[in-house]
Amino acid sequence: MKILVIGSGGREHALAWKLRQSPHAERIFCAPGNGGTGEIAENVAFAASDLEGLVRFAKENRVDLTVVGPDDPLAAGIVDLFTAEKLRAFGPTKSAARIEASKIFAKELMRAQEIPTAEARTFSDSGEALRYCQLAKFPVVIKADGLALGKGVTIAADAATARSTIDEMMNQGRFGDAGRRIVIEEFLRGTECSLHALVDGKNYLLLESARDHKRMLDGDRGPNTGGMGAFSPADNWNGKLQSQFETEIMRPVLRGFLQQGIEFCGLLYPGLIITSEGPRVLEFNCRFGDPETQALLPRMKSDLLPLLEATIDGTINGCAIEWDTWATVTVVLASAGYPGKYETGKTISGLCDAAKLQDVQVFHAGTKRDGGEIKTAGGRVLAVTALGSTIEDARERAYDAVSRIHFDNCHYRRDIALSAVPVNIGKSS
Ligand code: AMP
Ligand code: GLY
Repeated sequence: MKILVIGSGGREHALAWKLRQSPHAERIFCAPGNGGTGEIAENVAFAASDLEGLVRFAKENRVDLTVVGPDDPLAAGIVDLFTAEKLRAFGPTKSAARIEASKIFAKELMRAQEIPTAEARTFSDSGEALRYCQLAKFPVVIKADGLALGKGVTIAADAATARSTIDEMMNQGRFGDAGRRIVIEEFLRGTECSLHALVDGKNYLLLESARDHKRMLDGDRGPNTGGMGAFSPADNWNGKLQSQFETEIMRPVLRGFLQQGIEFCGLLYPGLIITSEGPRVLEFNCRFGDPETQALLPRMKSDLLPLLEATIDGTINGCAIEWDTWATVTVVLASAGYPGKYETGKTISGLCDAAKLQDVQVFHAGTKRDGGEIKTAGGRVLAVTALGSTIEDARERAYDAVSRIHFDNCHYRRDIALSAVPVNIGKSS
């Protein structure tokens, strides 16, 4: 089969790496890909936002399956375009992708199906939102309705922050149209967990649990990022939570889609917070997580390709996934400045040395090949994953690999997965 993976991050490198292992994969293209995907697949110079170009490429090259990594092309309707041209694509349609692309759509669906989530109000008038905040109990969480590159959520500790956030989003157009309408919701306390499900419209198959580290600095300080690391399985997940999650969240969300006449086919990733009363939904994502995918796929023993196909064909019910019992830890190496304006063009050394280590995978994100060298070309540069018999073992291996890789002003967190290591034997790297 000829496969096209759309995107250029660590998630897409991990997807291409996993699909490469399938006996059914003949050729893999990545659009536009990165320095790492170029080693295992053929990079083709189409941006993930160039929907027409991508359709044309898939048609001309008789691509059998396209896997869409990022949310933006899904929200823009790339799967609808491919399907109209009789091309097979993995991911939800534009209408189904609203579960991620519109926080208001997601909240309304959750409310209708009584899915546990934060109490929320939606506003399209800034005056009303400001008045609401005068009486609110702080902190409150203010969310732009639309996609905002992961920056559309502000936790406002006080009225002054709430006022300036509302003003920036709704009046000053900080996120363009994405912030013209907002959601203000209660602040929930607990630990976060990422679940991934292959959803074929009617049924779903869960992947293993994972946890992401969203803040830039150790100890969960600093600004929010796309994700500075991940590990799997999650230390805060268990069978009881999973059955509650399936009954109270997964089955109702599928029912909610069907009641609206929407068929969600693709990967649904609810971001959860585990409160004292059980799991609550923080958000729904309609694609694989980044960096969770880099932690999940090295644990997946089954072939990913037939699972993606079964999702499209509506036969996920007959599938199962075999998982490695070993754990994974993924550490993200970022450029100086990230998540703000960041440096690029720095030469990366030590990649071969790190890749030689057993049970280590170095996934590229913001990298590009420049002659004989790999250089930095993005905010998140690499995602270094290691498998280990325990989280602690995986952590040691991951940080050993990280210590061999260098580029100027490289920044990474030292405490990825540390919370999952038993305190009495915990060591920091
Ligand atoms: P989201 O993009 O909705 O996942 O939000 C980004 C981050 O903001 C989440 O990963 C949480 O850490 C935090 N967050 C979002 N909503 C809430 C909430 N209601 N209560 C507490 N933290 C939240
Ligand atoms: N890891 C967060 C995300 O993919 O949205």
